[in-house]
Amino acid sequence: MAESQVMVEARSLAKEYGATRAVNDVSFQVSRGEVVGFLGPNGAGKSTTMKMLTGYLNPTAGSALVGGTDVADDPIAAKRMIGYLPESAPLYEEMMVVDLLNYVADIRGVEGPQRRERLQTICHRCGLDDVLGKNVGQLSKGYRQRVGLAQAMVHDPDLLILDEPTSGLDPNQIVEIRELIRELGREKTVILSTHILPEVQASCDRIIIISNGKLVADDTPEMLSGGGGAVVRVVVKGEDSFEGTLSALPGVLGVRAMGEESGGRAFRLSCSPGSDPREHVFRAAVEKGMTLIDLHREHASLEDTFRQLTTKEGVADA
Ligand SMILES: Nc1ncnc2c1ncn2[C@@H]1O[C@H](COP(=O)(O)OP(=O)(O)OP(=O)(O)O)[C@@H](O)[C@H]1O
Ligand SMILES: [Mg+2]
Repeated sequence: MAESQVMVEARSLAKEYGATRAVNDVSFQVSRGEVVGFLGPNGAGKSTTMKMLTGYLNPTAGSALVGGTDVADDPIAAKRMIGYLPESAPLYEEMMVVDLLNYVADIRGVEGPQRRERLQTICHRCGLDDVLGKNVGQLSKGYRQRVGLAQAMVHDPDLLILDEPTSGLDPNQIVEIRELIRELGREKTVILSTHILPEVQASCDRIIIISNGKLVADDTPEMLSGGGGAVVRVVVKGEDSFEGTLSALPGVLGVRAMGEESGGRAFRLSCSPGSDPREHVFRAAVEKGMTLIDLHREHASLEDTFRQLTTKEGVADA
């Protein structure tokens, strides 16, 4: 990867709050134009990492680089490149939406003939046209979130860091904001955190998972959803234990006994990419004199991987 293509780099980032290790030796890179989903259970360290990337919090150890600039060394230069939507956007409640955005444009030094057009475009994209004259304090949670997004975009930054952009939104608004983020992702680098797994699957090129302050996965949504392999569910009735038979079938990587189901015993087979062992399962059942009650294929889910990676180490000490 050429240096100029790296938009964000976390180098062994760490943050301690007293005795709490909120972020522990986290390293990753984000290339220009990538849309990266940041996942992790409550208290995993997502917001803390984002605050260090945006220069709102200094790391205890390690460094964050944005566009090659060390954020702690030159936070002003870094912030010029970044649009940040914090977890709970601190908005001026008594200000009208239009005034707030103009105020942010002033602070950000957005001037000249393009200013009016920029603000219009942003309001339109964020769906704010109808509430420009309302006070921020009167807006619903979803609209406040849109205002937060708009204020992050006023100075047309190359990088957007969005901390739970869809939190508190209704399903319609989630779809709208997701579409907006996907659209923004075509021209910008985006890092977003969320608890909604289908959301990252739908809109991200890559997923980073942190648990207990540590990075536990950094991969594509496809790889994290079972590496392209499928899962086959089998329910059988009969005398044979069948587990060993299933394990030996071509394409089967692993077998998990799932207990009693529909009067039989259920198994979950993880399969290698491209393989489909259902035919073998059927033949093996016939050969062993077993009755097949259920046999179907499903795709492994990101949820499975997330649970696997974030529950065994124990919950963060939040
Ligand atoms: N200002 C603070 N002072 C002390 N501890 C803090 C502070 N901010 C965060 N922490 C602790 O740091 C850890 C990581 O918190 P962080 O907010 O980064 O998690 P998160 O992944 O964003 O969680 P959530 O999904 O709930 O937003 C938690 O244990 C939290 O209690
Ligand atoms: Mg958070």
